[in-house]
Amino acid sequence: MTHPVPQTQTLAARSQRAVWHPCTRLRPDAASNEPPLAIASGDGPWLVDTDGHRYFDAISSWWVNLFGHANPRINAALTAQLQTLEHVMLAGCTHAPAVELAERLSALTGHALGNAFYASDGASAVEIALKMSFHYWRNTGLATKREFVCLRHGYHGETVGALAVTDVEIFRDAYDPLTRRAHVVMSPDARQAAGDETAADVAARALAELETLLRERAGQIAALIVEPLVQGAAGMAMYDPSYLDGARALCDRYRIHLIADEIAVGCGRTGTFFAWEQTRDGEPVPPHAWPDFLCLSKGITGGYLPLSLVLSRPEIQRAFVADDIARSFLHSHSYTGNPLACRAALATLDLFEQDNVLAHNRDRAQWLADAMAGIAADARVSNVRQRGLIWAADVDADAAGADFAARFHIAARAHGVLARPIGNTLYVMPPYVFDAALANWLGEQLLATLQSVLGPQQDEQETRHAA
Ligand SMILES: Cc1ncc(COP(=O)(O)O)c(C=O)c1O
Repeated sequence: MTHPVPQTQTLAARSQRAVWHPCTRLRPDAASNEPPLAIASGDGPWLVDTDGHRYFDAISSWWVNLFGHANPRINAALTAQLQTLEHVMLAGCTHAPAVELAERLSALTGHALGNAFYASDGASAVEIALKMSFHYWRNTGLATKREFVCLRHGYHGETVGALAVTDVEIFRDAYDPLTRRAHVVMSPDARQAAGDETAADVAARALAELETLLRERAGQIAALIVEPLVQGAAGMAMYDPSYLDGARALCDRYRIHLIADEIAVGCGRTGTFFAWEQTRDGEPVPPHAWPDFLCLSKGITGGYLPLSLVLSRPEIQRAFVADDIARSFLHSHSYTGNPLACRAALATLDLFEQDNVLAHNRDRAQWLADAMAGIAADARVSNVRQRGLIWAADVDADAAGADFAARFHIAARAHGVLARPIGNTLYVMPPYVFDAALANWLGEQLLATLQSVLGPQQDEQETRHAA
């Protein structure tokens, strides 16, 4: 199926001239710069281009969308908010959506965390947590604690401060001279299991390496930052929850903050509202076992508006209570706590509560696993893995060839799917609005796309689960 797309190309061409697109290469040969897909509207899990072709948003528009595009309930909440208050600065003023959202998120942590500090993008939330951690230690007389630790291949955003704790070469290397690079320690990525090792064994190895560093430099290190359970931009690297509990214990032992970056994995993506909840096997997380800082963004507004925030322990804020202005956290952004964004987030939390979303997502996770079985069975695919509504697998380098991600993305469009592999990792992370039939359809389209990109398998023996 190919799409004749004259109108789309018109808008796409104008966009290429007028808009500097994010995370996009500009090649000297203009013809090799793939035009962007010109989207006119959204409808549930579907995006509709300017010529009316529909694409299943298999990656939730960069992992932000939870309840579909143009969701009637979020739309209604936003429309009502628009009639009341579109924006007011949050320094010296406040408003109901910002207060209610902060209260409800704190309640979701059993009030272990609170004092929501708002910003707009994920990277800003990361920078706020880094600055707060450093400043906390300075305010408590430990000004030498100014270094950070991140995981190998961890990703925390693209601003200069966030890049310092990001270990993805293609995003970081060009700006390395601008950053104060963090210590990088072994990731607990379960794909590193050797021989009989389990994911928990890999986590234990990674913890041992972490402890060596923390023991040596506890006096200089302010915080460890992690993406709980799934390192998204690393290619959906998944790991055992025991790593998080172990890291919490080490950070306590060496007096180091733990920052949980739940920007991608929060809001139900991994099966629980916060990924961190999976450290306790279904039991509530006791107050002392939460991270010191928790960053949220992306899905918190259902994918509607830019909003990020940092929750922290009460004792963090107490260290900033002082007459001396130098001890205050004077960070701000113009749109901090925007009422529309907070209202969209409240509507998102209402949907979680009213529709029992986390329970239904357990069924959806199973439908997704079943639907991807065809791809999982292809012998050219390995490391099939899933955590909640994130499914991923790696295409062997020989089979994938050059530019696999770009070729797959284009081929998937012709099958009515918006997908963007990371390197040779094929993944799906759909909005929480599909049934078993739609999951099967998605699996079929992705399998057909894979076969069109890699070619058919040589013979039946290449099918992993062939009899
Ligand atoms: C784990 C994580 N942290 C931070 C960010 C940065 O968020 P933003 O792109 O909104 O700045 C991302 C974005 O993908 C992310 O996945």
